[in-house]
Amino acid sequence: MNILAIETSCDETSASVVSNGTDVKSAIISSQIAVHAKFFGVVPELASREHIKNINPVIAASLKKAGFSFDNIDAIAFTSGPGLAGALLVGATAAKTLASVYSKPLIPVNHLEGHLYSSFIENKSLRPPFLSVIISGGHTELIVVQDFGKYKILGATRDDAAGEAFDKAAKMLGLSYPGGPVIDKRAADGNPEAVHFTRPYLKGSWDFSFSGIKTALLNYLKQNPVKNERYINDICASFRAAIAETLCFKSFEAAKTFGLKRIALGGGVSSNALIRKLFLDVGKKNKIEVFIPSSLYCTDNAAMIGCAAYFKQRVLGFKYNAQQLKSSSSL
Ligand code: KG4
Ligand code: ZN
Repeated sequence: MNILAIETSCDETSASVVSNGTDVKSAIISSQIAVHAKFFGVVPELASREHIKNINPVIAASLKKAGFSFDNIDAIAFTSGPGLAGALLVGATAAKTLASVYSKPLIPVNHLEGHLYSSFIENKSLRPPFLSVIISGGHTELIVVQDFGKYKILGATRDDAAGEAFDKAAKMLGLSYPGGPVIDKRAADGNPEAVHFTRPYLKGSWDFSFSGIKTALLNYLKQNPVKNERYINDICASFRAAIAETLCFKSFEAAKTFGLKRIALGGGVSSNALIRKLFLDVGKKNKIEVFIPSSLYCTDNAAMIGCAAYFKQRVLGFKYNAQQLKSSSSL
């Protein structure tokens, strides 16, 4: 089964052709980072306008790269939410229009389900049950994947998502947007023990809260203004260690509590070098298999939406065509 997948939930316009769930024939991503960087965050109106500009060329490029025409496409998948409303509408409208014109079934996919399935693309052996750890700019979630399409959300962020905390910390340090990759890079040359940030373990709950570390950083910087590059590197290393250790500790506690022998990471923050290392090391020690997508599939991308769509239709079948979804007010 060949699925054309479209993702436009935030600031990446992406289209991908995915065969049988995990065989990615093309993965085109047009990033808007340059447009939003000067605002230190995604500006929703600008994001929608960029998607409108990019959506048709990105879809055309994904079909061309795959060497496919619509004759070879069996279904069209798109991100139906959560995300920025205007941004989502662009992808949904493109998907519905193409499904209507070419008479293809439509598969709406939850964006988080996309991140949850992203580890399947490069790990054909991954199967439920497993613990999904989704860490992105907008979400921090621990989810028990009992079976395909059967999920139990254990906990989520109560305030800032992990990526959001990195982005805000970078802004405080005068670094560029998005902050996660910059802090990660600088942390490699810093001392993680230079500043101690309390780890917000929130014992007794599977939720996360990163706003406290962010405020602690703000207060620390007020009392200890930035002196030099080395000082920034040390703060980056200390901040990264606090977030990485918190995520790792809680994830393994959850896996052990629920008897899960596999953990799969997803979302932009799973690109973080320390998070990857900690999860792999702790996994080895505890005999829990850890799956982490390569960076291409960590950040928002349409291939993960195509992958999720494939497993979704295998469980639920095709539920929609363009007419049915057009008459619905929901995306
Ligand atoms: O999954 P994603 O592309 O978009 C959302 O669904 O939010 O994640 C974007 C987030 C941003 O906050 C960015 O700073 C963070 O992922 N990120 C990182 C790294 N690379 C991207 N955070 C920490 N370390 C990284 N290497
Ligand atoms: Zn995402």
